[in-house]
Amino acid sequence: MSDGFVPVAQADELRPGQMKWVAVNGERRVLANVDGAFYAISDVCGHRSAPLSRGKLQGHLIECPLHFAQFDVRTGELVNGPVSTAVPVYEVRIEGDIVYVKG
Ligand code: FES
Repeated sequence: MSDGFVPVAQADELRPGQMKWVAVNGERRVLANVDGAFYAISDVCGHRSAPLSRGKLQGHLIECPLHFAQFDVRTGELVNGPVSTAVPVYEVRIEGDIVYVKG
């Protein structure tokens, strides 16, 4: 795709409530399936950079495994937890059965 979207997964790899880390242009992102909708945010916690993909996905919230900050996967905003910066979000597109994330 020439508009900056990178293929990262088959849509059926993640069931609702599941997430995994994916590589986009050498950076780690978390791809999450929330009730059938896909979202992508940075895999680097805005507090002390722990990998969010090792945490928990509960509804729209990803909880960091280290100090339990919670970020909204739709916006990247911090919802609960230690003082932290928001996490970047990335556009997701599905074409056929392939999930693409913008680089
Ligand atoms: S590193 Fe994520 S909450 Fe501290």
